[in-house]
Amino acid sequence: MAASKKILVTGATGQIAYSLLFRLASGELFGASQEIDLHLYDLPEMEGGLKGVKMELEDSCFPELRSIIIGTDFEKAAEGIDLAFMLGAKPRGAGMERKDLLGENSKIFVQQGKGLNKAAKKEALILVVGNPCNTNALICLDNAPNLSPKQFFAMTMLDQLRGECALAEHLKARPQDIEGFTIFGNHSNNLVPDYTHARFMQKSLLEAIPDEKWLQGPFCEKVQKRGAEIIAARGKSSAASAASAAIRQMRSILFSDPQERSFSAGVFSEKNPYGIDPALIYSFPIIADGNGRWRYKKFDRLSPWLSEKMAISEKELIEERNLVRSK
Ligand code: LMR
Repeated sequence: MAASKKILVTGATGQIAYSLLFRLASGELFGASQEIDLHLYDLPEMEGGLKGVKMELEDSCFPELRSIIIGTDFEKAAEGIDLAFMLGAKPRGAGMERKDLLGENSKIFVQQGKGLNKAAKKEALILVVGNPCNTNALICLDNAPNLSPKQFFAMTMLDQLRGECALAEHLKARPQDIEGFTIFGNHSNNLVPDYTHARFMQKSLLEAIPDEKWLQGPFCEKVQKRGAEIIAARGKSSAASAASAAIRQMRSILFSDPQERSFSAGVFSEKNPYGIDPALIYSFPIIADGNGRWRYKKFDRLSPWLSEKMAISEKELIEERNLVRSK
């Protein structure tokens, strides 16, 4: 059996974690025959909750779950980890934008970036889910120079899945029949659902849905505002769907696809082929090589609509970066 994988989960007593942890422990990320160690981190006031989650994980007797470490000291919790799901962040309430959380969360991610720098394995892969996830991931990597910026990701898989589901519903088809649908930019109201390169049943999506007014209007808006819609309905942000997407996102980063299909992820934008500022965490279509590395997928032509929307998202991310760097 391969060496056990050490997985750090921050915000481990939160709602997303409560869905994620049991799925990780049941082998959904690596499959059976790969043991894992869970490192659960949360704030000191959540220590009781951490103990409770640990007991429930123990009582589930997952065969592949070798050990569970709980801790309120970030650096200790991050010791020797291979992967991190950074869920912990102050959540957004009704009427708030994700960037309203920048101030409070930037402090958390400075400290956690430093902790990862000291304690994580040099090749560890870090997925930031806590919002605003793009800029939180940027802060984290800025503070972790021992790790390559290419090891940091922000989760836009949830937006990709939301878009695929909405397209499938419109077409009365299955989400798995949609391919090449990408989210560009920021995980915010300005995220860019790129339907222009999407394919349905091996053909351009635009052949199946020629109505670009619908695609650029109600469809885009639905994907952009889905997070807020869920907050309004539940009174809390998405949790189980975020956990599902986090697993899909990490699996797509970890394992190569024999057909080399791309997927969306917020990545460090250095040397991107789209002319976007090279020092952001910006969502692009990427292809993973199965060894923790990835490359950009380059679409040769961008429509004027797509370029314009990508520039708006870029501007927003530059503003977020300026805001946290001026603190
Ligand atoms: C989501 O998209 O559901 C999450 O990012 C939560 C939020 O703040 O919208």
